[in-house]
Amino acid sequence: MRRRWTAVAAALLVLVTSCSGEAAETPEPSAKQRVEVFSWWTGLGEADGLKAMRTLFEKQNPGFTFVDAAVEGGSGDQARALLASKLQANQPPDTFQGHAGAELQGYITAGKLEPLNFLYDELKLRDAFPPQLVEQISVHGEIYSVPVNIHRSNVLWFNPRILKAAGVTGAPRTIPQFLDALGKVRDTGRIPLAIGPQWTVVHLFESVLLGSLGTRTYNKLWTADADWNSAAVKKALTDFAAILAMTGPPQADWQPAAKQVADGEAAFTVMGDWAYSYFHNKPDGGLGKTSKTDFDWAASPGTEGTFMWLSDSFTLPRGAPNREGAVAWLKVAASKAGQDAFNPLKGSIPARRDADTSLYKNYLAWNLGEWSRDELAGSIQHGVVANDGWRAAINDAVGIFIDDPDVAELQRALVLAAKNSGQ
Ligand code: GAL
Repeated sequence: MRRRWTAVAAALLVLVTSCSGEAAETPEPSAKQRVEVFSWWTGLGEADGLKAMRTLFEKQNPGFTFVDAAVEGGSGDQARALLASKLQANQPPDTFQGHAGAELQGYITAGKLEPLNFLYDELKLRDAFPPQLVEQISVHGEIYSVPVNIHRSNVLWFNPRILKAAGVTGAPRTIPQFLDALGKVRDTGRIPLAIGPQWTVVHLFESVLLGSLGTRTYNKLWTADADWNSAAVKKALTDFAAILAMTGPPQADWQPAAKQVADGEAAFTVMGDWAYSYFHNKPDGGLGKTSKTDFDWAASPGTEGTFMWLSDSFTLPRGAPNREGAVAWLKVAASKAGQDAFNPLKGSIPARRDADTSLYKNYLAWNLGEWSRDELAGSIQHGVVANDGWRAAINDAVGIFIDDPDVAELQRALVLAAKNSGQ
């Protein structure tokens, strides 16, 4: 009886909508079909890759509906806070993007994630990913996420025409060369170094720290032997102050800062390689610019031979409303086809070792080579080396420094942040 009533109501609804001349609305997917995928990939240079992986997911899983729960704001500025409150309230999305390394370890120890060993066994994923990466997403032999890519943080993007006009021959390779080039650009009246909101300055900070300290000393900062009070750190912070003095007015996010470079308003920006897809992808997904002519890149000054890495990885939160749908998403994210659909458009290289390298061109081909050769260092801002509390404390310290560039004060705050990190 009840079923018949539902059928009559549905028929009436169709009649009403077709009589009113409006298109019949697609019914809301039920809780079982919806797969809510949480990320912050919304804008130009961010959304294209996700769209490609979504298309593949929908093709392979006609029974599920992809629900894009992305929250705007580069580096998850807004998204991460919302995610934390959702997890706190035990109302997780079906799957969310997090960073391999210390950030993910935080979710694991808080008991928010399900181990994925069953998936790693079924899909033989232990062989697909580099062992050091699997280590970053594991605790006591349990593996907690599916890394979909490797991004690079320490990239100096520049406008070759603006460098030429300022008499700068080629990308600066050291911090003194960088300061010299920034000064020359300033003398031409253009913005030497474009920045966005506070997190982009922390992003710049990690590159300067690495470039000034060198890889060994930088990597030591995240171990028990760290010395944040050293003269070397003081020197790095002094370099940071000098570089910061060359920045333009802060833009609303990383894209408008990168656009200043593309438009020739600014010479340089230090940003992760999601900027590549922003510069390069066709209009709609990016600016449609030409590599090497409209924009160019190099390792950020002082960091040649070192790859400052981060990895976006998808998780299975405990209590995911649609666990089966989330696992279906993870399978796509883990697959060669999924990674090769996503990464060429995202500006990243695949986390898998068996990707089709012919798909990775221009910057991406260069970067694949670097990844295979370089020493590694982990990103601060993008969750690798510092847990969330520590990262937030570093952000606060850098935020204060932007308004009042007092090197001694910044060093004191960083020493304290490391001491209180509990890591
Ligand atoms: C990073 C993330 C990248 C990219 C970037 C800018 O944290 O790992 O995939 O989205 O933020 O938003």
